[in-house]
Order: sequence, then C-alpha cells, then structure tokens
Amino acid sequence: MADFIRKKIVVIGTGYVGLPAAILMAQAGHEVVGVDLNENIVRAINDGILHIKEEELQEILNRPEVRQNLRAQTTPTAGDIFFIAVPTPLDHRKKIADLDAVRAATEGLVPHLQAGNLVVLESTVPPLTCREVLTPILEKSGLKVGENLYLAHCPERILPGDVFHEIVYNDRIIGAQDETSRRLATEIYATFVKGALLQTDDVTAEFCKLCENTYRDVNIALANELNAVAETLGIDGRGAFALANRHPRVNILNPGIGVGGHCIPLDPWFIKEVDPVNSRMIFASRLVNDEMPAKIAAKIRKALAGVANPKIVAIGAAYKANVEDTRESPANEVVHLLRGDGYAVAHYDPLVESMTYAPRSLAEICAGADALVILVQHTVAMNELSANRAAISTQLRTPNILVY
Ligand SMILES: NC(=O)c1ccc[n+]([C@@H]2O[C@H](COP(=O)([O-])OP(=O)(O)OC[C@H]3O[C@@H](n4cnc5c(N)ncnc54)[C@H](O)[C@@H]3O)[C@@H](O)[C@H]2O)c1
Repeated sequence: MADFIRKKIVVIGTGYVGLPAAILMAQAGHEVVGVDLNENIVRAINDGILHIKEEELQEILNRPEVRQNLRAQTTPTAGDIFFIAVPTPLDHRKKIADLDAVRAATEGLVPHLQAGNLVVLESTVPPLTCREVLTPILEKSGLKVGENLYLAHCPERILPGDVFHEIVYNDRIIGAQDETSRRLATEIYATFVKGALLQTDDVTAEFCKLCENTYRDVNIALANELNAVAETLGIDGRGAFALANRHPRVNILNPGIGVGGHCIPLDPWFIKEVDPVNSRMIFASRLVNDEMPAKIAAKIRKALAGVANPKIVAIGAAYKANVEDTRESPANEVVHLLRGDGYAVAHYDPLVESMTYAPRSLAEICAGADALVILVQHTVAMNELSANRAAISTQLRTPNILVY
C-alpha cells in the first residue's frame, strides 16, 4: 500500500454497521475514533470487547495495532472524515423514517467541521435526505457542501452474522452531488473494501438501497399471496411453487409468517414516503406481509378449536431462521396476538439467550400442551423435531404439531 494516506476518521454510531467499519478502517492503518451515546458500548470498545456477535471481527479487534488505532468516546471530535451510522427507525404511526438520530448526529459534527472534511452517511435514509436534511445542517458550519466540505452517501448492505466477509467483499455504491466528494469517499473505502466501488449521485445511492430491500419485500409478499390462493384452492402452495420454479425464469420465494428484521419491513415505507402515488404495489406488499402474523394466529386458533383451556408451546422469536436477532420479529407478533386473546403460550427460542429451553428437550417442554407451533425453522429445532417426533407427539395432550 505505497500510496496509503493515514486519515483521522470519526465514526458516529458504533452499532452493527458503524463498529465493523471502524474496526476495518483501524486495521487498514487509520486513526479511528468511535463515537456512541451508549456508554456501555464505548467502554466495551475501549476494553477490546465486541458487543455484536461476529467472531472474525473480534479476532481483528484483538490485534494490538487495531487496538492502538481505535478508541471510543461519547462525544464527537475533529477529524478528516466523519462516518454517520446511527439508527433510522420507522415512525410506526406515520410510517415514515424517523431521522431524529441522523439530525442529532449531524448537528453534533457542526462545531468540529473544517474545510476539506468529508462526511459519509451510511445509515439507510429516504431519497433526498443528503440534500434536504444533511446539507443545510452541515452548512451551519459556514462551509459549503461541494466547495470546501464534502458529503457522500454509501449505504451499507451487510448480512448480520457474516459482517466481516460482506463488508470487505460486497460491491458498494458511493453517491454524491459532486465529483470531489465521490473521489474522496471512494479513496477511503478503497483502503478496506475489496468489492467494486460504484459511483453515482447521492439520490440514486439513497434510492438503490431502498430498491434492494423493497425487491425482497415485494417478492415475499407475492409468495404469501400466492400461498393464500393455493389454500383457497385446497392445494399445497409450496409444492406448486417448486413446480413453477422449474420454469427457467421463475423463482417464487418461500411463503412465511411475515417479514422481520431491522431493514426489509421498514425500508419500503421510505420509498412510499417520498412518492406515495407511484408506490401502490410496494404499499400493498407491506400490508400483505404485515398481516401475516394475524393470519398465522388465526390458523393456530382454528387448530385448537374445541380444546378446553389450550396450552401452546411456540418455538422461535428471531426474525428468521438461524439468527438470534428478534428485531421486528413476526414470530413475536404471533405470540403477542395469541396471548392477547387469552391463550397460554410458552415461548422459546433455542438461539435467543434468554429464551432457550435447554437443558430440557422439545419433548419435555411439550408435556401436557395442546400444540407445538414452530414459528421459526431454526435448524437445531427442526433436527430435534424430526429425530423425536413420535416422543413429542406422545408428550402432547392434543397432538398438534404445526410448522410454519
Ligand atoms: N444492521 C444491519 O444489518 C444494517 C444493514 C444495512 C443498513 N443498516 C442501517 O444502518 C444504520 C445503523 O444501523 P445499526 O444496525 O448499526 O444500528 P445500531 O442500533 O446497531 O447502532 C447504532 C448506534 O448509534 C448510536 N447512536 C444513536 N444516536 C447517536 C448519536 N447522535 N451519536 C452517537 N451515537 C448515536 C446508538 O447508541 C447505537 O449504538 C441504520 O440506518 C440501518 O437501517 C443496518
């Protein structure tokens, strides 16, 4: 790396997205300051402890040169480059992006900005946020974006659980209003990303990220809707999809209990927010996926009709199989609905630390229950079910085993 230029980089928000980037930039040789409001996270970083479950990143953080290049604190400081990776949740009532954290993080930079600085927004945001929200705040510094202050949007695409590989090898989109911002952002990503660095304007970059997650959401809604039609027809939807997918240009996804996680159920709303008239299919897909937990709860109630004081054992609280992340989990919504209707539900998830049934077995926790409901098909639970199905059925008072 003959032409490596060491920069001082300040990363605002050191969660799932900001911390991995901070660690890899420290590994590349930059001086990195992680800034987070959460004192526990700051302390953990300074103690060399990763607060997210990513083994390869922990190994990198253990290296002395990385520890030396990375420190964390609760307040911003001056630097050459600022990364913003704070949460952008959904305002659940209005179904629009809640940009309070982005605004606060940007405001916090203003007193520290100097001519020539680059600000990179990594948070997922509605289109036009860089121009209409960040630029006016940053220009309170007296600097002018595109002239003596630079701003780029580089949305993150990582898959939690495989962050190290994805952050290094995924292609990245680098969007900015001006050529210098694009060049400066590309130069810094090139020091730790091996994927292609694809340059575009800021609005296109903001939109691309939302297109990616909306594509997933709409396709999942299509699978859920077609599966409902198959049920009306009294046929097996998954079986039909397997046959349809033998067409060389068809790939119908799996139907399920809804869509969860921190990104896919939220980001399509950010598109609708900026252009509701042209987002009717996106809106309909959101509604289709959001009503899935209620449909699943109704199916469970139907299976238990006629059983007095039914007891349910529900497995799965994560938002999808084989992860421990429960954010926006449709499984939790199903359990919430059933409990709201007065059903007794014992809820477990073998991957969520506070919800495991170990050291007991699936058969043991099913003793006397009227339904075992698998809401999330974690491999470990499915293997146990297929190995001990007969024993589990014997333990159940009413032998309902429902897998969704
Ligand atoms: N997690 C993912 O897999 C993923 C993937 C792609 C994009 N994103 C997007 O990246 C952004 C960040 O998501 P995340 O998962 O890293 O969130 P996170 O909650 O894990 O981390 C954000 C951190 O920012 C801190 N914070 C909030 N306001 C702050 C402020 N004003 N100053 C300093 N710190 C502040 C919080 O304490 C938290 O530690 C979001 O826009 C999200 O949609 C996330």
